[in-house]
Parts: sequence; C-alpha cells; structure tokens
Amino acid sequence: MSRHTKNTRITLSTLRKMKQEKQKIACLTAYDASFAQILDQQGCDVILVGDSLGMVIQGKPTTIPVTVDEMIYHAKAVNQNLERALLMVDMPFMSTATLDLALHNATRVMQQTGAQIIKLEGVSHQLKTVAALTESGIPVCAHLGLQPQSVHKLGGYKVQGRSDDQAKAMLESALQLEQAGADMLLLECVPAALAKQISERVSIPVIGIGAGQDTDGQILVLYDLIGISAGHIPRFSKNFLQNKGSIAEAVLSYIEAVKKQRFPTLEHSFI
Ligand code: KIV
Repeated sequence: MSRHTKNTRITLSTLRKMKQEKQKIACLTAYDASFAQILDQQGCDVILVGDSLGMVIQGKPTTIPVTVDEMIYHAKAVNQNLERALLMVDMPFMSTATLDLALHNATRVMQQTGAQIIKLEGVSHQLKTVAALTESGIPVCAHLGLQPQSVHKLGGYKVQGRSDDQAKAMLESALQLEQAGADMLLLECVPAALAKQISERVSIPVIGIGAGQDTDGQILVLYDLIGISAGHIPRFSKNFLQNKGSIAEAVLSYIEAVKKQRFPTLEHSFI
C-alpha cells in the first residue's frame, strides 16, 4: 500500500517552511508516468524532470543534445499521475541563452507540462533573466556548481568551488541569484563545507547532489538509485535497490535516509 494517498500538493511555500523547520527535502528525477507515480506515492517531495534524460533515457554521452520539445514530452508524462510532489522541469542546453528565448521557452514548459518551477544552468551571469522570469510568475531554481551542460568548457565532470576564489564566486552568485528572485538553488558536486555555507546564507531552499549533508535537501538521478544507469555511477550516488524487494521500497529507503540524515554520508561527499 502506498504511504501517501490523498495528499495536498507540495508548493514552494511548503519547501520554504521545511527549510525553516529544518526538515530535509527529498528529491529525485523521473522521466515517465510510471516511475513518477512510485516516487509520488512513496513521499518524494520534489520530482525533477532532468535533462539527464539525454544520458539515461536516450543513451547520449552528454545532456547537450536534449531539446525543449523532448523536455516537454517527458514532463507531461511525469505530471500525469502526480498528486503530491512538486514538479520541477529542467531547461535544456541554450534554451535560455537570451532573455527572449528564456521567456519563450519557459512559457512553453510552464503552459504545456504543469511544471511548478523550472531549473536553469549557467545563470550566474544571467541575473536579468532570472529577474524577468520570476517577475513574470515563473519560479526558478538556479543550478550552481558542476553544470553538465558546460561539460566541454569545464573539461569533464569535476567538483566545482574547491579553490578559495571559486568558492567565493559561488557564494556571491548564490546571494545574487536569491536577490534577483530565484526561488531555489541546486548545488552539484560542491565541497560539503561550501554547500553548508551557501545553505546557511540564503533563505531559499538549497538542494544538493554531491554537496554533502548540510543542504536543505538532496536529489539523485533515479536510475543511479536503482542501479540501472549505464556506465559510471558517480561516487556521490548510492544503489538503494540492493537488499530491497522492489523499486518502491528502494525509493522509500532513500527518502527515509535523506529525512533522517543517514544519506549522504562522508563517503558520498567532497571536501
Ligand atoms: O538533469 C538532472 O537530472 C539534474 C540532476 C543531476 C540534479 O540536473
């Protein structure tokens, strides 16, 4: 039997209250209706339709080829059975490169998918875009740290913010993005101490992946969590299906581990 049947839909206010009350936010990616329903029923707070679908669904080497139409197709499917979780949808590579493109593509995603918030990479220098979107009523989660859409520029999937200068710049970006209107932050592959500092300095919820245990919430790619991703499984991830009888049990085990702060541990974090 599912743990959550008739629940009220989670909103950004719910997540802000969770941050204030120091309740951890459990998030996962999903790309279709069936998996999304399992996550929703087990009590996942936020479901991200990530552009990681380019790698885990389409088998491509990076997220760069993913299009807005593909994001809309998968997000529509995910939204189909959601009763409780907040739906976040990624904006793919270059889809928000100019202010006009950002407004056009974000409007399509919001209107066609049921997204409650969109997630953007590469926005540290696009504060005007974040302000324009949020002032238009489109909530924004800004993705900082390792940004897979910039993998070629970064020279690989590497931890970000290790030097003093990089750490200072990331903290500054986080504060500026909050000031510009961002509703959430996502930190990927960031030293745990820096992620803690950023989470404490901003009042918006901060979700981490490979960012230690002190962010307000955690996210993993679902296929890493159930051990079916092809190729390299990142160090910050964990297979929760081992010793469990079903995918639903694995998802519940992850959610409980996040809520009770048993995941991530030091072994899944960077210094
Ligand atoms: O695309 C994605 O799945 C993501 C997560 C790694 C956070 O951005």
